[in-house]
Amino acid sequence: MVAARYTQRGLPTTRDQILITCGAQHAMAMVFDALVMPGDRVLVEHPTYPNALDAIAREHARAVPVGFAGADWDLDTIAAAVRDACPRVLYLMPDFQNPTGRCMSQEQRAELVELCRRTHTTLLIDETMSEVALDGPPPPPLASQVRESSSAPLITIGRPARRCGAACGSAGSGRGGRCSSRSPACGLRWTSPPRCSTSSSRST
Ligand SMILES: Cc1ncc(COP(=O)(O)O)c(C=O)c1O
Repeated sequence: MVAARYTQRGLPTTRDQILITCGAQHAMAMVFDALVMPGDRVLVEHPTYPNALDAIAREHARAVPVGFAGADWDLDTIAAAVRDACPRVLYLMPDFQNPTGRCMSQEQRAELVELCRRTHTTLLIDETMSEVALDGPPPPPLASQVRESSSAPLITIGRPARRCGAACGSAGSGRGGRCSSRSPACGLRWTSPPRCSTSSSRST
């Protein structure tokens, strides 16, 4: 069902690319646990989802906040922050961002994927709010912007159903990672080509 939903939304997905978690927060915590080391920086929107800041703090990492430019994401400032702070991960919510409700344009999504491809920075996309679209279907998953050849490192987490989470990795999700003892059952790994794993996961 989850794979079919991703496929329906524009990102062809198979069952074996999905790993079910105990909610999006669980998926997020496992991804940070696998990828972020103490002292690493994680770029976040300002304002952002407060529990994401807690999950970053739990890894003894530092959040690097970037504000919005009016109704849009400020991609120039994000690019400058990537250059200056070298964040390990960009944690962003392009669909109905929590708490602002903003939705990222397709042009900015493409620009973001290109920025991460160029800088080898991992994108952690939180699509938990994507299904709250009221005026039409939700936007296509941001991972559908990733072409196989571009290999932008991208992991998507979401909430395909109540009390159910998902995480998925796309090509080359960084230096590789594995869930630690805090999540012993999941066997989450990223290598090249990457494999999804967490509670619920898929690869693009
Ligand atoms: C952006 C965002 N990410 C993650 C979560 C956590 O979701 P869950 O309740 O499935 O753990 C929420 C919950 O509201 C959220 O708004």
